[in-house]
Amino acid sequence: MQDTAVEIDRNAAPDADTSRQIASLSQHLSSGLIGRSPLVERLLIGLLTGGHLLIEGAPGLAKTRAVKLLSQGVDASFARIQCTPDLMPADLTGTPVFRPDRGEFEFVRGPVFHSLVLVDEINRAPPKVQSALLEAMAEHQVTAGGATYPLPDPFMVVATQNPIEHEGTFPLPEAQLDRFLLHVVLDLPDAVAEREILDLVERETTVTPAPDVDQLSPEILHQAQAAAMQVHLAPALKDYIVRLVTATRDPEIAPDVRRAIEHPISPRGTLALAAAAKAHAYLAGRDYAVPEDVVELATDALAHRIVLTWRAAADGETARNLVHQLLKQVRPL
Ligand SMILES: Nc1ncnc2c1ncn2[C@@H]1O[C@H](COP(=O)(O)OP(=O)(O)OP(=O)(O)O)[C@@H](O)[C@H]1O
Ligand SMILES: [Mg+2]
Repeated sequence: MQDTAVEIDRNAAPDADTSRQIASLSQHLSSGLIGRSPLVERLLIGLLTGGHLLIEGAPGLAKTRAVKLLSQGVDASFARIQCTPDLMPADLTGTPVFRPDRGEFEFVRGPVFHSLVLVDEINRAPPKVQSALLEAMAEHQVTAGGATYPLPDPFMVVATQNPIEHEGTFPLPEAQLDRFLLHVVLDLPDAVAEREILDLVERETTVTPAPDVDQLSPEILHQAQAAAMQVHLAPALKDYIVRLVTATRDPEIAPDVRRAIEHPISPRGTLALAAAAKAHAYLAGRDYAVPEDVVELATDALAHRIVLTWRAAADGETARNLVHQLLKQVRPL
């Protein structure tokens, strides 16, 4: 038993060069995103777990900037899709085009066939486009005209959503929100950060741009992904994650929270929180996860998977608040 544990630990020890390159990507993101270390961490967690991110925030909070910085730091193709109500699924996935010289149709791949895809204002895209995208995200492939085309590896979607605009939008159905590993909510910066942003952007526009960053290669990314997956999640920590998730179903654990929930969290939430906690531990330079990793990611990994009862919603309750309640009532063993 002891031997096995030692063996696992040795295998999971993060390779120094890989960790160094991930740290330098993290540094590249942090230096360009003032006061946004949680966002930087979550972008890296998405990258390490192969998960997709939904970022919600008012206009001008550097959502686009964040994804552009990520695409500069990773040697992977990048595409941006600006969603509008007249977008069609084929604008995203691709279209069969007739080639008269060959007398046949050729599938021309759409922007979703890139490694890093920024989908701006996803809630302005009509439901058919949303479901085509979310299907591609879940299956890592696109089916068109009876043929199946695999998406690249790595493949990560970062979708943005603006919470203040409701006119002419199509809210993502709850069942599809579930496809995102994390739902990150950005709030407004404080005065100190605001001033730093002003200085940073001024520097960028007046001083010659910084030299190009070392891009993370797909090989190193794969190594980092493997190391993050091998992070040790102790049985007690797995139980903690399971109790947090099942508390949204079982009225015994946290009755007042359970009462406010119409649809509880599915096993996908359990898997998402476990993967995110492991990647968080890896980023902290550990080859084992601790309860703080789970607590840190619980809200962003779980809240968007909860559907409130209409009464709770009418009373102004929020899913994020319910997860905060759960974290107070369900403690690690
Ligand atoms: N935390 C921050 N760090 C650095 N720059 C920032 C930060 N917040 C905002 N900015 C600056 O604000 C401007 C707007 O950023 P960006 O276009 O990325 O916002 P956005 O969230 O994508 O907005 P929209 O929702 O309208 O698309 C950019 O010039 C960006 O540099
Ligand atoms: Mg933007």
